[in-house]
Amino acid sequence: MLISFRDLPPYIRPTWIEVNLTNVQSNVRLLKNHIGEKVHLMAVVKANAYGYGMMEIARTSLSSGATWLGVATLDEALVLRREFLKNIPILVLGYVPTEHLSVASNSDVTVTAISLEWIKEALSIVQQPIDFHLKVDTGMNRLGCKTLDDVRKVIELTAGHRNLRFTGVFTHFATSEDVNNRTYYRTQLKRFHEFLEIIPNRTEKVVHCANSGATLYQDEKPFFNMVRCGKALTGPPNEPLKHLLPVPLETSISIHSQLSLVKQVDAGEKIGYGDDYTTNETQWIGTVPIGYGDGWHQDFRRTGVLVDGKRMQIVGRISMDQLMLALDREYPVGTRVTFVGQQGNETITGDDVAREAKIPRSEVFSSMSSRVPRVYPKIPNAGIINIHNYLLNSLCLLGVTYYLYYTRS
Ligand SMILES: Cc1ncc(COP(=O)(O)O)c(C=O)c1O
Repeated sequence: MLISFRDLPPYIRPTWIEVNLTNVQSNVRLLKNHIGEKVHLMAVVKANAYGYGMMEIARTSLSSGATWLGVATLDEALVLRREFLKNIPILVLGYVPTEHLSVASNSDVTVTAISLEWIKEALSIVQQPIDFHLKVDTGMNRLGCKTLDDVRKVIELTAGHRNLRFTGVFTHFATSEDVNNRTYYRTQLKRFHEFLEIIPNRTEKVVHCANSGATLYQDEKPFFNMVRCGKALTGPPNEPLKHLLPVPLETSISIHSQLSLVKQVDAGEKIGYGDDYTTNETQWIGTVPIGYGDGWHQDFRRTGVLVDGKRMQIVGRISMDQLMLALDREYPVGTRVTFVGQQGNETITGDDVAREAKIPRSEVFSSMSSRVPRVYPKIPNAGIINIHNYLLNSLCLLGVTYYLYYTRS
């Protein structure tokens, strides 16, 4: 029997991430107001925009005041370029192997020069014009030229070069959200100024160093002519520092599922794999269709979930596709279970989950897998799509491809 791909519901398993693009729109506008008209806002949308959905966050950011897009890989940049016109600049912030520079050049993607060695390799390979931003390492010790000497050599080697075009310079902070100790941040900023002193034609270049933390929490306003924000596009970068925000950013994500089975279990029974949890009295147990294969890891269970406006505990080991809850009573199948978000007066934030799991909040959302559809309630008066189901969307694409193949052959 032929499946009609067009007739499929947008998603079938009732587990979803909801992203409020109206809040993203407002956050981006507030950020743009904060940095000022003359400063570009780069929307950093790497890793599927930290799990929120790369295309949707990119589109909303661009229509709300962002003028650049930043990603970690050339693969991500190519996906964006397929969608956005060439006049939207895209910078790959991470490593691009030099043998792929022609791919970047063909798609008008700007790349990062990560070291003097990278520049030397690029010079020996490059056949067509490509823009690069030079990364200088002021203390993160990840990517970038570490010494003034290396930067001088980069300048010398690329000066007036026909194909390798030096159009920007940047660095990245290790501790921009540490408001209790700003010493390391300030040392990095000072070092960045030292690098800038030796950069020729600096006013013609794009100069940037501020991520969300430096944009929002640091008095020096180290904006130069561009800032690069990821976390701040979708809410306060750090819930405990919300009171320090110069603009009222709003959270925009929630994660939900539903009870798929509810049963009463006798005392002394095991719940889930292994010996993780044994009931010590008769207990209502609810099964929920989300697991670590969706990105809901063992360490995330400490926060519990919300059912009927009350906090319930996740019990037993989380399976790949499912987990179990200890319920306070019987609930109907289909009852909403909220992992992040609000029910009644109770709220679980991404920061709560991150704190209990002892990881940064970005790790919680960016670990949510493509199996979980992202749902985007419509922004009034904007053509924003409603639902992105990575699995069924690819099936539809496959369906269209098959259709075209068979009708043409
Ligand atoms: C080089 C670079 N710039 C900017 C960002 C955005 O950081 P944030 O999400 O803190 O704004 C990142 C994110 O990790 C990054 O690696």
